[in-house]
Amino acid sequence: MTSADPLLTGFTLAGVPLRNRYVMSPMTREFSPGGVPGDDVAGYYERRAQHGFGLIVTEGIGIDDAAAVDKPGIPLLHDAASIAAWKRVTDRVHAADGVILAQLWHQGPFRDPRGSRHPHIAGLRPSGIWGPGDGVVSITREQVEYLLAETRPMSESEIGDVIAAYGRAAAAAVEAGFDGVELHGAHGYLIDSFLWSYTNRRSDHWGGDIGARTRFAAEVVHSVRGSLGLRPLMFRFSQHKQQDYKARLATTPGELEALLGPLADAGVDAFDASARSFDLPAFEGSPLTLAGWARKLTARPTMAVGGVGLGKPFRPSDGGASLVEGVNNLDRVRERFAAGEFDLIGVGRAALNDPRWIERIAAGEPPLPFDPANLLRLT
Ligand SMILES: Cc1cc2nc3c(=O)[nH]c(=O)nc-3n(C[C@H](O)[C@H](O)[C@H](O)COP(=O)(O)O)c2cc1C
Repeated sequence: MTSADPLLTGFTLAGVPLRNRYVMSPMTREFSPGGVPGDDVAGYYERRAQHGFGLIVTEGIGIDDAAAVDKPGIPLLHDAASIAAWKRVTDRVHAADGVILAQLWHQGPFRDPRGSRHPHIAGLRPSGIWGPGDGVVSITREQVEYLLAETRPMSESEIGDVIAAYGRAAAAAVEAGFDGVELHGAHGYLIDSFLWSYTNRRSDHWGGDIGARTRFAAEVVHSVRGSLGLRPLMFRFSQHKQQDYKARLATTPGELEALLGPLADAGVDAFDASARSFDLPAFEGSPLTLAGWARKLTARPTMAVGGVGLGKPFRPSDGGASLVEGVNNLDRVRERFAAGEFDLIGVGRAALNDPRWIERIAAGEPPLPFDPANLLRLT
């Protein structure tokens, strides 16, 4: 690796030193039967640490709520078996000089109970609403029709229980040896569904204007911070939703500030701005990206993500499962980095595809094409 690459310089994330700026972006893999990650999952993350990723954010991990996640292969982190299994993962990552955050996940409206561990328990939704139903989505039309049926809004006690469950999940993450956590507050899942006006129509103190809709996320941040101590807490947010890729959480920088400011105040150390392309301008009239705006508005470090090392952005309609050519677009990434738009750069599909991706790029080798067959195995 050459030290001429500014992305290979170290960074300190809330007191935790990272050897470089390359982050393995969180990616659901569903290889954890019974919610317990095995040796194969540990090896998969260990290889990313061995081959140079400065930070790993795990796949989404279900928090301790029966309605948190759907597919049975999604990992959990709240019973003795899953905590011990994640400890084996974090030990191996640390032995390879890696740093690893657990991504805490509650799917909220997007969970499809059919085929889940708890098929008779409905998903949790702030106002019972799934989404508009006519947007570009990441699931089949049949699923959309099923999920569109309105459910009842979450009760006050359900909201309190879920906030407490996030706190327990963060405590379990500490016990399992994680360096910190990332909250999945993006893509239309539970936290995002409180932020988004389409799915949050509540007239109590959990709904209302953009500041009021941030309240649930801020309470989750408080709860998690209580268990984490000073360890890093990263918050992932996005404009787009899996229920509607054209949806926008904030239509102006002012709205984005109203949303992210309270989260920074509640204890978020860094924002992970999820976008389909790392260099997509967030608002008309400015080239600044979502990560760039988040950094400017909150003075917190940010991570940009989307399309790094690949010729095409993530395709929502096929869950990213298309063959995509590998390209070295790091010059464009470095330009944005030099302009001060972000501190960390997320690598999703290219990291899933090839554990040696950073070394290959640094050696001047062409990056491998993204092979969707790798979604079905742990490379
Ligand atoms: C197979 C797959 C699973 C994903 N699962 C998650 C997830 O669990 N949590 C999350 O926040 N993002 C998830 N994402 C989004 C990625 O983290 C990333 O933001 C997206 O793929 C864009 O980056 P890329 O163009 O480098 O792949 C997933 C993406 C893929 C391809």
